Amino acid sequence: MTEVIEVSSDWLALREPEDARARSRHLALAAAGQLAPGPILIHDLGSGTGSMMRWLAPQLPGPQTWVLHDWNASLIERAMHAGANDREGRSVSIRARSGELAHLESDDLDGASLVTASALLDVLTSTEVGALTGACVGVGCPVLLSLSVTGRVSLDPWDPRDDEFEAAFNAHQRRRAGARRLVGPTAVALARRRFLEAGWNVRAAATPWRLGDHDQPLLDEWFAGWCDAALQERADLRVDGAAYRALRSSQSRRGALSAEVAHTDLLAWP
Ligand SMILES: C[S@@+](CC[C@H](N)C(=O)[O-])C[C@H]1O[C@@H](n2cnc3c(N)ncnc32)[C@H](O)[C@@H]1O
Repeated sequence: MTEVIEVSSDWLALREPEDARARSRHLALAAAGQLAPGPILIHDLGSGTGSMMRWLAPQLPGPQTWVLHDWNASLIERAMHAGANDREGRSVSIRARSGELAHLESDDLDGASLVTASALLDVLTSTEVGALTGACVGVGCPVLLSLSVTGRVSLDPWDPRDDEFEAAFNAHQRRRAGARRLVGPTAVALARRRFLEAGWNVRAAATPWRLGDHDQPLLDEWFAGWCDAALQERADLRVDGAAYRALRSSQSRRGALSAEVAHTDLLAWP
């Protein structure tokens, strides 16, 4: 049985405004430009509580139906409860599909006008990325994959320990979770290669998070998670880690810390 990695709805809510700011509107517009006139069907893979739907639906024409895929049915329920509106302000229809993306096939995306995902690729395995890209190629519609972590983090002010923590965090992203080996920061290159091998076109956009004292709770929560993951991977960093954490949290309290966390958005189409 697959070990499901739980994502908290509180974390998804905390990051939603910065996700919305960071995602590429140019690529969303380019995806919208490829849609045929008439009703559209969008599949959102790893939808969580529906942040991508709430961001993208108002940028697309209606009427829209969204199919939300996630292995955590309780997150999809929240998305269905919250709803979303299309570009004309009409409510979109929403359907739920719970299941593991490792088993995704073209038939699961039947009738899709657009397939999308956000903050998903880097938490998958290479088999799952292969299933996802294979199913998309099979169905033959545009694919918008937002906010994949690419591993680079720049903290301001700089500290000599930043690079070591970044390397440990990135190793943790590629960890074994039960029987699964996650792809972490190599996800974008892997997905891009799969689409190019299928003869598809791919456009990429840099979509970093810019964290600072304008949203201190997100900065603090992100930094705590980044540090925890690095320390899980490299327990030998622990002694130095306590001093590093104390310094960063005092800088954050004074509004003297900011961070840029690199992500990439990909648009792929046949
Ligand atoms: C970081 S969250 C992003 C959620 C949402 N897309 C957003 O932008 O807020 C990743 C989501 O993918 C789901 N997920 C991760 N791996 C999965 C898999 N192998 N099969 C199905 N769902 C998966 C998680 O349950 C979670 O809801």
